[in-house]
Amino acid sequence: MIFYFSATGNSKYTAECISADGEQLVSIAAAVDKKEYDFSVSDERVGFVSPTYNWTLPSIVSEFLQKLTLHFGAKPYMYYVATYGTTSGASTAMADHMMRKKGCHLTPVLMLKCRTPGHRSLICRIL
Ligand SMILES: Cc1cc2nc3c(=O)[nH]c(=O)nc-3n(C[C@H](O)[C@H](O)[C@H](O)COP(=O)(O)O)c2cc1C
Repeated sequence: MIFYFSATGNSKYTAECISADGEQLVSIAAAVDKKEYDFSVSDERVGFVSPTYNWTLPSIVSEFLQKLTLHFGAKPYMYYVATYGTTSGASTAMADHMMRKKGCHLTPVLMLKCRTPGHRSLICRIL
């Protein structure tokens, strides 16, 4: 399962690229719109993909992470992918901080540098 937020397409494209065959993609914007914050997870991994806004998380993503409840049997591997233009700032740390309050740890797997909206230039860093 991959949760994503994307205003201009980079993060959605990223989520689609890293998803496994048949993996569920959940739009954070649609979930917030429907006030849907409870999700059952049967996958071995759960990802979050989001743009960096002002060196941190977009407010809609912060709101979503605060309200999110994940139901699972075995704890899945969780990761966070930030797309950004010049610097991802504190976005990965913020996401991890918010999820740790729920007993989850988000590994910052990789960050994608997206110089202009709609243009994915390169995978620049693997943490
Ligand atoms: C309001 C706003 C704030 C942004 N702040 C940052 C920033 O602090 N650092 C950065 O490197 N890129 C910043 N960006 C660029 C986006 O993070 C980048 O283009 C991202 O890939 C957009 O993702 P999306 O196409 O999924 O919306 C900002 C973009 C917007 C619209």
